[in-house]
Amino acid sequence: MKLFGPFKQILTLNNLPLRGKISDEQLEIIENGGILINSENKIEEIGNYDVIANKTKQSLSNSSTLQLSDRVVLPAFIDCHTHICFGGNRANDFAMRNAGKTYLEIAEKGGGIWSSVQHTRNASEDELLETLLERINRLILLGITTIEIKSGYGLNVESELKMLRVIKKAQEKTKATLVPTCLSAHLKPRDFEGTSSAYLQYILDEILPKVKKENLAKRVDVFIEKSAFQREESRNFLIKAKELGFEITVHADQFTAGSSRIAVEVGAVSADHLEATIDEDLEYLAKSETVAVALPGASIGLGEPFTPARKILDKNGILAIASDWNPGSAPNGNLILQASILATYQKLSTAEVFAGITFRAAKALNLTDRGILKKGMKADFVVFETDNFQNVIYNQGSLVASEVYIDGKKIN
Ligand code: NIG
Ligand code: FE
Repeated sequence: MKLFGPFKQILTLNNLPLRGKISDEQLEIIENGGILINSENKIEEIGNYDVIANKTKQSLSNSSTLQLSDRVVLPAFIDCHTHICFGGNRANDFAMRNAGKTYLEIAEKGGGIWSSVQHTRNASEDELLETLLERINRLILLGITTIEIKSGYGLNVESELKMLRVIKKAQEKTKATLVPTCLSAHLKPRDFEGTSSAYLQYILDEILPKVKKENLAKRVDVFIEKSAFQREESRNFLIKAKELGFEITVHADQFTAGSSRIAVEVGAVSADHLEATIDEDLEYLAKSETVAVALPGASIGLGEPFTPARKILDKNGILAIASDWNPGSAPNGNLILQASILATYQKLSTAEVFAGITFRAAKALNLTDRGILKKGMKADFVVFETDNFQNVIYNQGSLVASEVYIDGKKIN
């Protein structure tokens, strides 16, 4: 048994609703809190530090020495949508976009997703692994200990499998939990001879069976958009991927409406983006079990509208918030900063932001052992040196986690 504390405030995020609005008054705050971790590295007890210390006969001198007033604890954060396995960089795309160039002009000048595909295909596994681990470590420093990571810059059997194998290798080298997703349906690669439907069929026939055999990912994603895959071909693809045993998630309604509906219809665990979703479809999504994932980093990166997070919550939907960290549309990667900015534009409470990057994000990844702090849960938690939880969001990413724990062990 190990006891951590005393902490000025522990926010367990326990007993909050999975869907809909949450006010800050609903937050359970344990003052002078302690966290007891058992021999399986799970949370044994959370509560008043002195009470736990007396019960477990641990003397206060055995515990950490910081003063009570210094620290606030939260469940560690979960980034449920990233593309952080990639080669190269797209700073030039960013500059061209800010100079007023269109998506098409950028692609013609050698930018866009295709440029990341070429860099990723040309990179060795070791090179990809090294940069991926650097990005994972940056996320850990922010207090993020569960990270979804998509393929989607390989776009053929060899390179998609390479990406997913690199993610698997990264898992052997990090204590963070990585959740791989096969996004071979990101774009039809320029060197594929055939229609986009034929490419989707190629994924089903040639890529997914190998992904399954090597146990490289349990989730499949598709980018449904005019410039990528069309709605009906995507629907068929998703149904077949589901039949193969994969969980489904969708890049939906980023620029054009209509695809979040498909995500709900096929029973996707999440529909991500939703910047362009029409009210009727928001209603439909909010009534479903599909988690709506806002990606403010992409809105900031592209200068596009934010996901209507407030409406989703007011309609009683399940809202998670993720970074979408990728070399093109969301190069920043600081989920805490992005979620804080989303809060100001979409009028989210601090509780709603925390929920979006913890237990609601866990729901998007179908993970039931994390996202809140209570007995039996994974002992992943983050500590901020501050006297009030509100400061975490108020400081818009500039209050950086001072300690990060995974399975009850300090890793930063
Ligand atoms: O989620 N929308 C499609 N895919 C990514 C962008 C990837 C890229 O530009 O490389 C996204 O924003
Ligand atoms: Fe994305």
